[in-house]
Amino acid sequence: MRGIMEQTKAKHIVIGITGGIAAYKAAELLRLLMKQGMEVQVAMTEAACHFITPATLQGLSGRPVLTTQWDNTGNGMAHINLSRAADAIVIAPATADFIAKLAHGLANDLLSSLCLARNCPLLIAPAMNREMWQNAATQRNIAQLVADGIQVLGPDCGIQACGEEGMGRMLEAERLAQNIAAFFQPKQLSGKKILITAGPTYEAIDAVRGITNRSSGKMGYAIAQAALEQGAKVVLVSGPTALAKPQGAQGVDVTSAAQMFEAVKQRASDCDIFIAVAAVADYRVAQPREQKIKKSAATLTLELVPNPDILAHVAGLPNPPFCVGFAAESENLAKYAEQKRRAKKLPLLVGNLAQQAIGSDDNELVLFDGNGSHILPRTDKLALARLLMQHIAQRYEGANK
Ligand code: C5P
Repeated sequence: MRGIMEQTKAKHIVIGITGGIAAYKAAELLRLLMKQGMEVQVAMTEAACHFITPATLQGLSGRPVLTTQWDNTGNGMAHINLSRAADAIVIAPATADFIAKLAHGLANDLLSSLCLARNCPLLIAPAMNREMWQNAATQRNIAQLVADGIQVLGPDCGIQACGEEGMGRMLEAERLAQNIAAFFQPKQLSGKKILITAGPTYEAIDAVRGITNRSSGKMGYAIAQAALEQGAKVVLVSGPTALAKPQGAQGVDVTSAAQMFEAVKQRASDCDIFIAVAAVADYRVAQPREQKIKKSAATLTLELVPNPDILAHVAGLPNPPFCVGFAAESENLAKYAEQKRRAKKLPLLVGNLAQQAIGSDDNELVLFDGNGSHILPRTDKLALARLLMQHIAQRYEGANK
């Protein structure tokens, strides 16, 4: 299986920084890309050097930072050499002025010459005041860049350095790093519809109390992100979590297992792949009280009834989608997981140890399918999700040949 690190490891990225206050976020972006195994070369405009120093970026990237086309070392062809060595150029931040230059093919400094001379993809992260962003001239230029095949990442909405609020903030470094990694992912699931459940469920006891579990939703959300990166259309049915839905996913928020079941039933026959990551409560309270139960000295007994098994229901449909289940076990993982895979009639079941998985940022997975089992070693949940989605894509393709 090809790993995510294999796809991003040898990638050589040129980060181009132009003169806006968001230039400070470029340092963090650089760090995050290097953490993913990418090699990063920085090129800056003169204006950018007023916002962040080349010394900072040289220290972080471990390479001299290019700021001028009039450098008299080498062959004087930095704009050609740099782009030939790059797998992608990322302009972050991209000012309104630089966007205008790109739209018109101007090349009067190193960075704009480099962009014009490139033979690799160009991604830009606009950053500017909201009026500058909304200005008809900027919107015309952006439309031109999109038509020219340039990837426009963001901008975001929110408070701006000038104190105003609106569209124009540069995407946070973490989002940009994800988008750049996504850009290099193979699009094996292009156009496929994937339904995912994630997070815990909450079963009401009374008006203010309930039964839930410590699932954070991180694994399910990471899988949704990885599926989007592979070109899939994703519906994410989520129990209560504190997480933002990945950009591009259609979110359906539910609270209880019964609501999750309804949401899934409505959509299951229209999906190609169903991935049940949610930690669904096995039981619900038979008769939740509408009002808060008052404290008393007497013992309180709650009658619990089993919840429907959402995954087993979908896997048992006449024409089921390709179903993937999760099993969180606290012991005997291999035995229980394989039993569960057979009982629910799943082509693929993903096992993990509950005490290591729930709520944490990283995890180790064991995949069980008709050919046996294999391990995806411990790493962060997004990297694992990408590996898992590659595996699912291969198995799905195999099952539909
Ligand atoms: O049987 P167990 O709860 O361990 O199975 C776990 C798998 O089944 C997970 O994929 C989970 O999302 C799914 N499940 C479900 N509905 C339930 C219980 C579990 O979809 N009521």
